[in-house]
Amino acid sequence: MKILITGASKGIGLATSRMLAEQGHDVVGLARTEPDDFPGLFRKIDLSKEAARKTLFAELADEHKFDGLLNNVGLVNPAPLDEITLEDFDACVDVNLRCSLQATQAVVPHMKAQRHGRIVFTSSMVVAGVPYRTSYAASKSGMVSFTRSWALELATHGITVNAVAPGPVETELFNTNNPPGSESRARYIEGIPMKRVGLPEELAAANCYFLVGQSGFTTGQTLFVDGGYMTGKSAL
Ligand SMILES: NC(=O)c1ccc[n+]([C@@H]2O[C@H](COP(=O)([O-])OP(=O)(O)OC[C@H]3O[C@@H](n4cnc5c(N)ncnc54)[C@H](OP(=O)(O)O)[C@@H]3O)[C@@H](O)[C@H]2O)c1
Repeated sequence: MKILITGASKGIGLATSRMLAEQGHDVVGLARTEPDDFPGLFRKIDLSKEAARKTLFAELADEHKFDGLLNNVGLVNPAPLDEITLEDFDACVDVNLRCSLQATQAVVPHMKAQRHGRIVFTSSMVVAGVPYRTSYAASKSGMVSFTRSWALELATHGITVNAVAPGPVETELFNTNNPPGSESRARYIEGIPMKRVGLPEELAAANCYFLVGQSGFTTGQTLFVDGGYMTGKSAL
């Protein structure tokens, strides 16, 4: 299978790229900085640039005929309600949602033609509501909504659409926004029944299940990989 991954240079995206490559799949990864040892083809791009990403998605989709897409790039822009600027809010919606929409539109025509495709989002447990994450949580909730709408729209085309919603995961993104010793890090860990953060590989395993695993009858779902955080909080 050939899989396109946004935000592939670090953290969850890189771990998923490695796991897919170990399983014999071809990966095309996108991010601003190229890692030394990327396990596939890597293209450098700033995904906050709308026109550049549209051009690259179209070029790659034409060249590679993707079987799967992981919409993984994410922007947090944390702020208390009274300090959120519209610019920061729009930036989250742009990188987290509009970029995913463009990437998906680029890969779906080939998936429809071959009657097989796997679309996966990296959402977040913040969809449950977390202080100071308004822009991020709204856009991650939008991913859950995309997942459900597109699952229905694409169900008869052999294309599944699912989301993986991580709890706190030991990555640069999490460590930057929640440094060791910070109040927010302690609050996150305290709220996790397993009392630990997750590993990128634990998220990669869930992504691989939806991207290349035997998950063909599962669509429109959001899988919380969160050390038990959502259990007891969300309705069934
Ligand atoms: N870690 C967590 O606790 C956690 C929890 C819930 C959800 N998530 C979600 O998981 C996803 C991956 O995050 P992560 O934790 O693995 O973070 P990470 O280790 O910081 O990785 C983020 C990836 O996105 C890329 N990226 C960021 N901005 C970009 C831009 N403008 N253009 C191109 N690439 C860009 C980064 O590469 P460059 O910097 O090289 O561009 C990197 O490859 C995100 O959607 C995040 O919201 C993470």
